[in-house]
Amino acid sequence: MVFVCVDDFEKKAHSVLEKSALDYYRSGAGEQYTLNLNREVFRRIRIRPRFLRDVSNIDTRCKVLGIDLKWPLGIAPSAMQKLAHPEGEGGNARAAGNAGSIYILSTLSTMSIEEVAAAAPDTNKWFQLYVYRDRSLTEQMVHRAEKANFKAIVLTIDAPIFGQRRSDIRNKFSLPPHLHLANFEGIKADGVRTDEEAISGINAYVSSQFDPTLTWKDVAWLVNLTRLPVIVKGVLTREDAVLAREFGCAGIIVSNHGARQIDTVPASIEALPEVVKAVGNDLIVMLDGGVTQGNDIFKALALGAKMVFVGRAALWGLACNGQKGVEDLLSVLKKDLEITLALAGCQKLSDIKGDMVAYESTYAKL
Ligand SMILES: Cc1cc2nc3c(=O)[nH]c(=O)nc-3n(C[C@H](O)[C@H](O)[C@H](O)COP(=O)(O)O)c2cc1C
Repeated sequence: MVFVCVDDFEKKAHSVLEKSALDYYRSGAGEQYTLNLNREVFRRIRIRPRFLRDVSNIDTRCKVLGIDLKWPLGIAPSAMQKLAHPEGEGGNARAAGNAGSIYILSTLSTMSIEEVAAAAPDTNKWFQLYVYRDRSLTEQMVHRAEKANFKAIVLTIDAPIFGQRRSDIRNKFSLPPHLHLANFEGIKADGVRTDEEAISGINAYVSSQFDPTLTWKDVAWLVNLTRLPVIVKGVLTREDAVLAREFGCAGIIVSNHGARQIDTVPASIEALPEVVKAVGNDLIVMLDGGVTQGNDIFKALALGAKMVFVGRAALWGLACNGQKGVEDLLSVLKKDLEITLALAGCQKLSDIKGDMVAYESTYAKL
């Protein structure tokens, strides 16, 4: 079968993944209203293409936080990637490197920081962090990431507790015994809570470390702790964007955690413009959530994002064929972006302007 779009990878992934892993990957919180919205809103935005503008040479290169990238798409942090394929985070990270993009390693990974660094030494890697009750555990993670040559810390701020994913509760989802959360040395996936508070199968020790008392002061603490740039992930409002700037962050990922936290929050692409308007001149604003096509990337950039990330799409690629599957998926997405650029009349990313997109409602009013 020829795979021509993310949905083709997803379809195949559905046939190879165990049901509980598939449900864990695909589900959103609550009724999954925002999960659908993340993709749907991209379709409510129209591209206003410009023609007769020599598009013989398409250049998708960009620079983000001093890193040269072949294109403005990276891989978002997602937990437990060995559930998709034995190559796990290592395969995913190598694929990102080969595609000239960035790989963000989740804290809740099935390969450790050091193992991923060894598996993908040439990939530009960022480390996604949660701040734990035990601040010395947090410090250790940050210093391990620094030592392993990760280039930024991505602090996820939208998970003081975890959202309710109904299928995980029904499935009593937990990591199979041969896998473990590799960054928490010596801690196995036993003791998993099976009550409704169970946090998507992470073990009781790790879940007990999530700290709902966190505030922006802890962000200031983290910014001071590390020499790496700190990016906050999960911003959905201009108010929090302004605080991210105030507390010394280098960037923001506008994100609703793949709609896995609170249902009925806006789609990431809906929240993007207010964040860009508030802080876009001072911080790097990026986005994840619902990106599955080249034209989604185009629209996010037109609305002011400097780059975008994919979460589930990479998991589908990984499930299909490990590293090679992710490489194939990324090459489909990159080609799709190049075609979109050419057909919209843009040679390079800086040619994408805000007036090249319009909301559906603009036309409906006519
Ligand atoms: C299975 C799964 C696990 C995730 N685990 C994490 C995580 O450990 N840390 C985190 O910050 N975000 C996590 N996310 C959220 C992603 O980083 C990202 O925000 C989201 O997947 C983007 O939406 P998309 O899947 O529509 O591309 C996870 C998402 C999924 C689907």
